[in-house]
Amino acid sequence: MNLKGKNVLVTGIASNRSISFAIAKVLRENSANVIISYQNDRLRERVLKLADELNIDNSYQCDLSIDQDIAKLRDNIKQDCGNLDGIVHSAAFAPKDHLSGKYLDNISRDGFALAHDISSYSFTALAKAFKDDLNEAASLVTLSYIGSNKVVQNYNVMGVAKASLESSVLYLADSLGDRRIRVNAVSAGPIKTLAAAGISGFNKILDVYQQKSAIKDNITTDDVAKVVYFLLSDYSNAITGQTIYVDNGFNIIGY
Ligand SMILES: NC(=O)c1ccc[n+]([C@@H]2O[C@H](COP(=O)([O-])OP(=O)(O)OC[C@H]3O[C@@H](n4cnc5c(N)ncnc54)[C@H](O)[C@@H]3O)[C@@H](O)[C@H]2O)c1
Repeated sequence: MNLKGKNVLVTGIASNRSISFAIAKVLRENSANVIISYQNDRLRERVLKLADELNIDNSYQCDLSIDQDIAKLRDNIKQDCGNLDGIVHSAAFAPKDHLSGKYLDNISRDGFALAHDISSYSFTALAKAFKDDLNEAASLVTLSYIGSNKVVQNYNVMGVAKASLESSVLYLADSLGDRRIRVNAVSAGPIKTLAAAGISGFNKILDVYQQKSAIKDNITTDDVAKVVYFLLSDYSNAITGQTIYVDNGFNIIGY
């Protein structure tokens, strides 16, 4: 289970509430060498402060919707740290007006493409760019949500993009399996983060989870981080192509 000294790239830290911040923290507590990428210069100061808190030395700006940014990230990491043992993809975006009302109310060709580009393709783009710079038995993990396969009010195009993301996990697992590289998704229950704040009626979702989940509670970023750690570690070396729910058993409840 030991990730001591392993190089793990963690994307998507925007605040100390980000799921990826909790993941970076668990990795650092277990002496992994964490490398961070953040979206843009607007986030730079805040993210570098958080990196400092976790004694992380290598932080790079990378917009995951831009191939040149991803190539630059790969080249910088290769030069500064060497090959990767893990990648955590924790980024998503859809235009705000697409995340309220019924799916058909606000959907547009551009909004659909943008949501899929950032929330789904960026994971494949990372796998493609880093393919030759991953160590044998490396592990790739992305974050998904139950809106991929059940209708969740207001989640709309993001659910459609998460379905695409979860399907990519299957094809990426097949593409990389011959080098024992694994690819999985964690489908997390709702957590109040910056991304979640963009979804209309999010507080109501939190209430429903507390009432309906098997373990009558909401989940925390730490709950997710521990499972991501497990998936990055060799304790999960026979698990690939899976979407694993970390949602206090919400997804198993029918009526
Ligand atoms: N919070 C929840 O309830 C919840 C539940 C299930 C899954 N998730 C997923 O977890 C992941 C992380 O979200 P979070 O809840 O921690 O929110 P967050 O707002 O802290 O993180 C989202 C991150 O995506 C990044 N991002 C957006 N566009 C980007 C781009 N073009 N390039 C690079 N980065 C970009 C943002 O900078 C931000 O750091 C997302 O994939 C989200 O869909 C969240």
